[in-house]
Amino acid sequence: MLLRRIAFRKKCRTLGFLIIAMITFVYVTIVSKSLERIKAPSKYFMVFTCNESTSNTHHQPEPSILPTSKIIKEIPRHISNVSEFAYPIMLWNNYLINNPDLCKMNNNILILIVVKTNPLNFERRSIIRDTWSNKAYFFGVIKVLFLMGNAQNETIQENISREFHEYLDILQGDFLDTYKNLTNKGVMGLRWITENCMQAKMIVKVDDDVVLDTYRLLEIVYPIYENKTRYILCNIFMGGKAPIVRDVKHKWYVKDSELKNIGLLDKKIYPPYCSGFTVILATDLIPAMFGIAHVTPFFWVDDVYLHGLLPMKAKRIDYVSLSRNYTFSYKQAMRCFSGKLPCNFLSIGETKLHEMRPLWNMIQTYHSRRIKKNTTRR
Ligand SMILES: *[C@@H]1O[C@H](CO)[C@@H](O)[C@H](O)[C@H]1NC(C)=O
Ligand SMILES: *[C@@H]1O[C@H](CO)[C@@H](O)[C@H](O)[C@H]1NC(C)=O
Ligand SMILES: *[C@@H]1O[C@H](CO)[C@@H](O)[C@H](O)[C@H]1NC(C)=O
Ligand SMILES: *[C@@H]1O[C@H](CO)[C@@H](O)[C@H](O)[C@H]1NC(C)=O
Ligand SMILES: *[C@@H]1O[C@H](CO)[C@@H](O)[C@H](O)[C@H]1NC(C)=O
Ligand SMILES: *[C@@H]1O[C@H](CO)[C@@H](O)[C@H](O)[C@H]1NC(C)=O
Ligand SMILES: *[C@@H]1O[C@H](CO)[C@@H](O)[C@H](O)[C@H]1NC(C)=O
Ligand SMILES: *[C@@H]1O[C@H](CO)[C@@H](O)[C@H](O)[C@H]1NC(C)=O
Repeated sequence: MLLRRIAFRKKCRTLGFLIIAMITFVYVTIVSKSLERIKAPSKYFMVFTCNESTSNTHHQPEPSILPTSKIIKEIPRHISNVSEFAYPIMLWNNYLINNPDLCKMNNNILILIVVKTNPLNFERRSIIRDTWSNKAYFFGVIKVLFLMGNAQNETIQENISREFHEYLDILQGDFLDTYKNLTNKGVMGLRWITENCMQAKMIVKVDDDVVLDTYRLLEIVYPIYENKTRYILCNIFMGGKAPIVRDVKHKWYVKDSELKNIGLLDKKIYPPYCSGFTVILATDLIPAMFGIAHVTPFFWVDDVYLHGLLPMKAKRIDYVSLSRNYTFSYKQAMRCFSGKLPCNFLSIGETKLHEMRPLWNMIQTYHSRRIKKNTTRR
């Protein structure tokens, strides 16, 4: 069990102290609201009891720092000729809020999950911190970073500041947080990872309305890819399936000038790209994509830009389809996780606020069932 191997390794000896410390803490803060957040890591938590003999037989792979500067320098950068309007502004614009130490704060990091969010979505972020990204379950091997722009509203900004000081998991860029600036949000993420988080071994990008099965991610998906490079797991729209929308009334209508900027003016369809609600990437691709963004003019349809145009130029990428591992249907997800084993969903997209906790609870129940079944079988 990967969790046993990794999350609990080194923790074994101190687990006793941890438990005592936790009980004390719970007593001290019993009346305080903060108890809500670190609340009892459920029964699933108990399934992973510490096993000293298991933990001694494995060694955690050393976090390797890839030669990112090298990769970037290989790509021609015409910085001097970059027009502010032609290229994503977050290639150079300031961060407004940033914790550059997020990934360094714990040497155990394996997976960084970046969550595209809007400054106003306080509640989504709060639920995500409570559920699928909860530190209490993953002991620092999984870290979350929320990406947002500027809401240009003092009240909201003060609130974001408070949130940041409490959780240190927000990256805010100096750009207006709008639909047409999502590409800038994504480029900011590429830049930040290149600068601050190359020790993560896998990068996951999700929207803030996604419920992610982080147990599956860590125990089943991660081990397959832990030593691989240049892969992207996503839902791919192959060429011919994603028309370029030219209907002025449509949300995804693009202007001639915008298409011209990326050389697609005469095209009817987009080149292959991934839908961006859940994308898993090898860390080594991130600096390469960031470098390529310096020579890829801006295009506001972020999925096309970030998960199409950029990786297309990176070449030699292994694409793995996640088409059978997601759903946008709450009902279907609940049925799957409560039904017969196994359930292969990794990601549930487009959830409503009130659906997020029940989904996560069901995912936890699913995994305790799965583990119990596998344990009794042995
Ligand atoms: C601990 O691990 C050993 C070796 O893997 C195994 O034989 C034993 O059953 C495990 N104990 C528990 C309580 O899981
Ligand atoms: C800057 O880019 C434009 C458009 O791509 C090109 O026509 C022009 O020659 C470039 N200028 C320099 C100095 O490289
Ligand atoms: C800022 O946001 C608050 C809370 O949403 C709202 O009440 C207020 O009107 C906003 N102020 C401006 C200047 O938009
Ligand atoms: C400020 O943040 C809290 C949660 O941290 C949220 O409940 C509240 O709605 C936010 N206020 C504004 C004005 O956005
Ligand atoms: C994107 O952000 C920039 C910088 O804040 C802003 O000037 C621009 O209007 C935004 N674009 C859109 C389409 O909102
Ligand atoms: C990945 O590499 C580490 C260290 O060399 C090794 O222990 C582990 O078994 C490898 N994982 C896979 C899936 O090959
Ligand atoms: C996706 O689902 C298939 C079964 O339909 C499963 O074999 C595969 O492991 C799953 N992939 C991921 C990344 O969860
Ligand atoms: C049970 O464990 C085996 C071997 O460890 C693994 O291959 C299988 O996928 C597990 N079954 C489930 C439902 O997780």
